[in-house]
Amino acid sequence: MDVELRGITKRFGPVVANDAINLHIRAGEVLGLLGENGAGKSTMMNILSGLYTPDEGEILIDGKSVTFEDPGDGIAAGIGMVHQHFMLVPVFTVAENVVLGVEPTGRFDYLDLKTARKQVREINDRYGLEVDPDALIESLPVGIQQRVEILKVLFRSADVIILDEPTAVLTPQEVEDFFEIVRSLRDAGKAIVFITHKLHEILEISDRISVLRHGRITGEGDPAKLTTETLAEMMVGRPVSFAVDKAAPKAGAPMLTVSDLCLLDEHDDFALDHVSLQVRSGEVVGIAGVQGNGQTELVEALTGLTRPATGTILFDGQDVTRSSVRERHRMGMAHVPEDRLRSGMIASFSVAENMVLNSYYDPTYGRGLEIDWPKAQTTAARYCIDFDVRTPSVFLPAGHLSGGNQQKMVVARELERETKLVIASQPTRGLDVGSIEYIHERLIEARDEGDGVLIVSSELDEIMGLSDRILVMFEGRIVAEFDATNGPVDRNAVGLAMAGASE
Ligand SMILES: Nc1ncnc2c1ncn2[C@@H]1O[C@H](COP(=O)(O)OP(=O)(O)OP(=O)(O)O)[C@@H](O)[C@H]1O
Ligand SMILES: [Mg+2]
Repeated sequence: MDVELRGITKRFGPVVANDAINLHIRAGEVLGLLGENGAGKSTMMNILSGLYTPDEGEILIDGKSVTFEDPGDGIAAGIGMVHQHFMLVPVFTVAENVVLGVEPTGRFDYLDLKTARKQVREINDRYGLEVDPDALIESLPVGIQQRVEILKVLFRSADVIILDEPTAVLTPQEVEDFFEIVRSLRDAGKAIVFITHKLHEILEISDRISVLRHGRITGEGDPAKLTTETLAEMMVGRPVSFAVDKAAPKAGAPMLTVSDLCLLDEHDDFALDHVSLQVRSGEVVGIAGVQGNGQTELVEALTGLTRPATGTILFDGQDVTRSSVRERHRMGMAHVPEDRLRSGMIASFSVAENMVLNSYYDPTYGRGLEIDWPKAQTTAARYCIDFDVRTPSVFLPAGHLSGGNQQKMVVARELERETKLVIASQPTRGLDVGSIEYIHERLIEARDEGDGVLIVSSELDEIMGLSDRILVMFEGRIVAEFDATNGPVDRNAVGLAMAGASE
């Protein structure tokens, strides 16, 4: 199948999200799509899949003009999209999720789950997906959940498969497995559109690359002739530094002291197994590890979202083990959560409301019993400018921001305040290379102003670039520590510890 976008324009109020876009998508090819946060990638793909209607322009399938009223039309025409944020029902099984909306029915209109399971198995085998049709979604790791999203579009016989930042939440091993699946889909003649902010990924998986800027296609290229540097410049219009620029740390008094923290999971296994660590004022401590080794639980315990079974947490000399989230926040703890949509923001609230989401009770916004909205809005506007959150106004519902701009909004809210300790989980998830550079600068700035900074990231490059000290988590424990203050740490050694080699 051959798809062409011709002169596609889409406006949201004053924002021209797509500006006369021409794009060709071909069967048996992976088209890599690259562009800054807010460049219009998701919008363009939402138009192609029938979720949005364009204001101008047309879509041609095999040379014939088509109009999509809704995603149902897109699917009927063979176009399937896996969205930037998953859309699965957690309490349903894989098979139930896959057939949702197009359930095969037997006699008397009963849901025929047996046929559904069989069909799911067939697709599984054909493309090497290896997903258990009877598993509950909520019990599956994200990497597998993502394959369920792919199963869904394949079940609907899609010939064009749009993948919007599919690797943002995957571990490096999951990415490798995922690439195998993408290649097998391509070799089976599917047309794939692959959106990512990770430049080495786009170079590895694409047959062709298109770059989007401010709603326009500004560059096209052959991955064999491009480098990460040239791509970055094509994308943001200036050279980007991938290395974090920082001076030696001036570490001071302990800001966070964690002793012997234990937490049990639902099977009574240790999610946190006697974790002790310290973050001093003026230093960045990075926690490396494959996702799912206790990092999430550790951050939840440190920020007050869960109570540990045993152990103590001292923050700035005070025992906060039993303190509420708000108390810790008031004492100057910033928290960038790993999942912005689940725990960092409220999509239906405006950008301004989100910017004061955890400080509206602060006397600076208080006016008797009411919130001083003009003040909150002015503050929000300033945060947006500082962090380059691209939005037409602070009144826009935050859910309408592009994915990366939502992330920048959350980071801005947490870092703009007076803080003493920054706990940031996957701080640059979904950000373009230019924004990553800026967020890294700000984190180092927080350190240089005397904050303790704790970074949790599954991006080893990010950990290596930012940290003065690296701790490795494996199966709920801190299994290794590396000092980065006297020269770079051995990347291999960190990788080995992440894989549990020191066990
Ligand atoms: N439903 C909407 N209402 C208002 N504005 C919107 C809506 N959807 C998208 N936009 C705006 O359109 C522009 C493009 O957004 P889009 O989501 O397409 O960007 P993107 O390239 O996918 O970015 P990211 O890399 O951050 O995901 C942004 O300015 C965004 O705020
Ligand atoms: Mg997007």
